[in-house]
Amino acid sequence: MANQEILLQIKDLSKSFKVGSRKLGVPAQQLHALSHVDLEVYRGETLGIIGESGCGKSTLGRCIVGLHTPTSGELMFEGSPLSFSGPQGKGLRRKIQMIFQDPYSSLDPRKTCGKIVEEPMVIHKTVEDRAQREERVRELMGVVGLDAQHVHRFPHEFSGGQRQRINIARALSLSPDLLVCDEPVSALDVSIQAQVLNLFGKLQKEFGLTYVFISHDLSVIRHISDRIAIMYLGQVVELCGAEGIYDSPLHPYTQALLSAIPPASPFEKKKAIELSGDIPSPIGDQVGCPLASRCPHCTDRCRRECPQLTEQTDGHQVACFLYDKERAR
Ligand SMILES: Nc1ncnc2c1ncn2[C@@H]1O[C@H](COP(=O)(O)OP(=O)(O)OP(=O)(O)O)[C@@H](O)[C@H]1O
Ligand SMILES: [Mg+2]
Repeated sequence: MANQEILLQIKDLSKSFKVGSRKLGVPAQQLHALSHVDLEVYRGETLGIIGESGCGKSTLGRCIVGLHTPTSGELMFEGSPLSFSGPQGKGLRRKIQMIFQDPYSSLDPRKTCGKIVEEPMVIHKTVEDRAQREERVRELMGVVGLDAQHVHRFPHEFSGGQRQRINIARALSLSPDLLVCDEPVSALDVSIQAQVLNLFGKLQKEFGLTYVFISHDLSVIRHISDRIAIMYLGQVVELCGAEGIYDSPLHPYTQALLSAIPPASPFEKKKAIELSGDIPSPIGDQVGCPLASRCPHCTDRCRRECPQLTEQTDGHQVACFLYDKERAR
């Protein structure tokens, strides 16, 4: 990936939310949903984002598509600062699209499939001629594997997988470069998940799409990703090629995550690594490593200082003092 074009660069991105209210007698505090995230997304790749509930995956996705304004840090798209305001902003909105988890609630139940897929082209005035737009809608339905004859049907007349295909067709209608997919198959049956994942793969090849693919399911992430970022409590704790993460997980959190997958055969011996306790609260200022309170290797330094992502082998980065070369000396 070293000499590939960087499509999206996420630089020291943080996002906090104000929670609590003095009026209600709950002190106002900051909830740190994302802390100092640095990531690069290469053109044409799938960057998988994995981590347990509440670790900040959706917040990251929402910052990328402009649904959240970052508290600090910067996003660069094709080498320029990413801003959705002003005349350039509208063009950028077209280039970056998001697909959400629940294929039903993200579709307007009062609109037909055709109207839903057509809408972005009307809003962005990309295809002004009505007949051409209708033609494009039929074409897009074919691309995502829907029967173009069903163009006048309403969302409730489609199955879950088909509804997600409608969402995908709508996102594709603006010919985007980057799709941020937030758990796009989590609400679907396992057999349907595979079909929709294969569709994502096919579309990527056909249109040269780049994906930021969010999921809490390791098997889904493994199937689809070129590289994987593992998140914990608002931070990226490990980043590497999809196979690397399975062959040589470095971070204690990644190791625990992987050890939780049941063995492929009953004869395979596997030792589960358990992390004690729950994921700590993201409310208030954090000191030290986010995993410190649960990590079996925790030292005093881990409680005091927060480790930074550092490269261990080519393209494999980890944020953990266990791999600190300074310490090993
Ligand atoms: N609008 C908001 N206001 C306050 N807190 C928020 C808001 N959105 C997210 N959070 C908090 O930010 C943290 C990260 O949430 P986020 O939805 O990004 O996690 P996630 O990794 O997507 O989780 P899940 O796997 O459950 O979807 C959580 O603690 C969540 O409660
Ligand atoms: Mg989420």
